[in-house]
Amino acid sequence: MQSHLILDWKGEKIKSMVHNKIKYTAVPVEAENASSKKTFCAYLASHLTKKNISAFVCILILSTAFVLVACIGGNFQSKVCTNNKSMQFTPKPQNRLHYPKNLKIAHSKRRLPHCIIIGVRKGGTRALLQFLKIHPDVQVSPDEIHFFDNNENYSKGVEWYRRRMPQSFEEQITIEKSPNYFVDWNTPSRVKLMNSSIKLLLIVKDPFYRAVSDYAQIKENRIDKNMEMEEFEDLAIDSMTGNVRINYKAINRSLYYIHTKRWLKYFPLEQIHIVDGDNLVLHPFEELEKVETFLGLRHYIQEDHFVFDRKKGFYCINRENGAHKCLNRTKGRPHPKIDPDVVDQLNEFFEPYNQKFFKLVNKTFQWPKAVGKRSIKKKN
Ligand code: A3P
Repeated sequence: MQSHLILDWKGEKIKSMVHNKIKYTAVPVEAENASSKKTFCAYLASHLTKKNISAFVCILILSTAFVLVACIGGNFQSKVCTNNKSMQFTPKPQNRLHYPKNLKIAHSKRRLPHCIIIGVRKGGTRALLQFLKIHPDVQVSPDEIHFFDNNENYSKGVEWYRRRMPQSFEEQITIEKSPNYFVDWNTPSRVKLMNSSIKLLLIVKDPFYRAVSDYAQIKENRIDKNMEMEEFEDLAIDSMTGNVRINYKAINRSLYYIHTKRWLKYFPLEQIHIVDGDNLVLHPFEELEKVETFLGLRHYIQEDHFVFDRKKGFYCINRENGAHKCLNRTKGRPHPKIDPDVVDQLNEFFEPYNQKFFKLVNKTFQWPKAVGKRSIKKKN
């Protein structure tokens, strides 16, 4: 075999060999170091003769390697895995739950939600969404989209909203949650305009505890910004009149009767399932089973999908590998201790609203759960 250096059409040095009268042209040093496999292949293709079988084999190996790396990178086994602009594949049903957002999944598309968790803020909306995500027939939007309660977002149109939804397969349902929808005046009519038969989930908890939870969240956010925050008692009770401040947001959002009544002007009660947020904390499986029935889902979620995490003080998701997936630290915050007189006053204040709410939704909850001075005396 003879070997000598020649110049290619660009004037670069390439190595050429002649063996059995066939001329082999090898890769120049520059091309060998080229980072892009594509450039490397193109270079080879342009330098090797068509008859040369090694060029064909090289291109074949490289493109197969590229597709394989892309597929493994996607963490999926796929039936179809092509190297298009965006990868296309059909994951096995058990792998259909989570996949990178930028992948185009064969037979899947982004769909408008079939169900919305409308609130209530601090009712346990995140826990409900995360727990529903366990179900293989459910896809959830991880972000709160605030489409209906934000005029700027709403003006972008329903197509904008749809594009923010996760990809789903035909047999799956899509769920979005934005807890502010419950108290927003525009939202019910806008949701109805989009889909009058949509299913709605409302999760409520003891109104006093929910108000304190609301306060604790805002307080933490303000402290993070080095801002001061008044005590809960001072915000909830007007010191001049001694009355409960009905317009204090943390209080107002707990008036479930008022807000639910507005929703019922647009949707029949059968389309709204009310989840007991206090029971979701204690017995998540019970509440999830009811939600599955309401959404027409097969009963997939089991009691052993949940495990009580002592450190967290809440139920967490029991993963197959034995690890617990708990909600982050902003869920399950410590609450400030509230003056027992204020507890009593608020319990009394909420009571007529609670009773009207129970009648309205045809369901009773064991409220008040919070104990003030009077409730202690009553018990004795
Ligand atoms: P606290 O943080 O005040 O305890 P939301 O997700 O709507 O903001 O609601 C937050 C509340 O969800 C928490 O309020 C907590 O009580 C409740 N929650 C219910 N189940 C939970 C769980 N498994 N882990 C953490 N918080 C849970």
